[in-house]
Amino acid sequence: MHFFEYKNGQLHCEGIPIYQIEEKVGTPFYLYSYNTLVRHFTVFNNAFEGIPHLVCYSAKANSNLALIRLFINLGGGVDVVSGGELYRAIKGGADPKKIVFSGVGKRGDEIEYALKAEILMFNVESSQELQAINEVAGRIGKKAPISIRVNPDIDAKTHPYISTGLKQNKFGIDILRAPLAYRMATQLPNLKVVGIDCHLGSQIIEAEPFMEGLRKLKSLVEDLRNEGMEIQYLDLGGGLGITYEDEEPPHPVEYASTILEEIKGFGCTLILEPGRVIVGNAGILVSRVLYTKENEEKRFVIVDAGMNDLVRPSYYGSYHHILPVNEEKREEIVADVVGPLCESSDFLAKGRRIPRLEPGELIAVMSAGAYGFSMSTNYNSRPRVAEVLVRDDQMFVIREREDYEDLVRGENIPDFLTRP
Ligand code: LLP
Repeated sequence: MHFFEYKNGQLHCEGIPIYQIEEKVGTPFYLYSYNTLVRHFTVFNNAFEGIPHLVCYSAKANSNLALIRLFINLGGGVDVVSGGELYRAIKGGADPKKIVFSGVGKRGDEIEYALKAEILMFNVESSQELQAINEVAGRIGKKAPISIRVNPDIDAKTHPYISTGLKQNKFGIDILRAPLAYRMATQLPNLKVVGIDCHLGSQIIEAEPFMEGLRKLKSLVEDLRNEGMEIQYLDLGGGLGITYEDEEPPHPVEYASTILEEIKGFGCTLILEPGRVIVGNAGILVSRVLYTKENEEKRFVIVDAGMNDLVRPSYYGSYHHILPVNEEKREEIVADVVGPLCESSDFLAKGRRIPRLEPGELIAVMSAGAYGFSMSTNYNSRPRVAEVLVRDDQMFVIREREDYEDLVRGENIPDFLTRP
């Protein structure tokens, strides 16, 4: 469900025709629908009503301050994986007691920052990390709340780059070794065990892996309770998939109801870390067709957004619908939609059946709200694009387009290179 629709032959975001936004900000730009974001978060959050729960929006999916703030206003917490994301969460106004910190490689300074901010808990991914957190906490006189991220060895049947819950993945502590890690944690004086955590992967389109993960976690929690440990929080991570092309993931309400059934009365506050399912279909990338060309074998549509702006197609071979902003009927062609970067991997779509696009017209790359802007780079010295939020018939530039000055900020030419 989203509020990007054709009205009178023009693609709109909520109440505004997209071409009118382009007239103000130029191309390319990311465009988010406020009412879609609110709806997605609210539906997800309400689906867990009836049990104590906390939805920690996974900032990595889209870490714009305005979006973080929006979810905080709706009662959300934040899942962060770096000092930078923690900074954004705090700057966005998050209650530190609703922040969880995951990631296999937390540095000492990041641990210290999170301890001083007094976050809800660290999701710890190795025994050495337990020791590191204990050491930093001791040094600054804090007690660190921790949960252990367990690797349950479950195949989430998703792209290998975004599967995280298998033994072969770097994430978490093997479920068989987890009890040992918990015992170690209880022995370390500056740690307080508060929870258990797992995250199976991303763009998961079946409910079963989540259920399997939950069952394994519950059984471990029972063992830990028998050893006298108090596990207050059970964090099931994120990962619920969305429809990009023709996938049929469980609806959040369906996903929640199976989880609820399994966890009701278990005595833990459930934490969830959704990213994609909240923002994925609430955002698009708008770009302009620059040129078209063809040879005996292929047609190319060259647009002004590329792999630096949206890397998902080239990196994961992922699919994003491409729509002309002007709906006008025309013949269909099969073409590669490519960007301006100097790499053959720079494409937004390959061998795609699309309406014949003309130079100068605008296209919308759909379902780009998650891992779109947040994975964008300056490759080929391309300024990062603007981000716009639309609410009803109002638009807000929530991130200015970068300029050439931004590209060289912080770079210096040493004196010896400029001396004659
Ligand atoms: N929690 C943890 C610990 C995670 O690692 C992730 C995603 C999430 C939550 C949120 O998962 P989601 O609900 O968004 O599936 N760049 C890739 C996706 C990478 C996901 C990494 N971790 C993509 O564009 O498909």
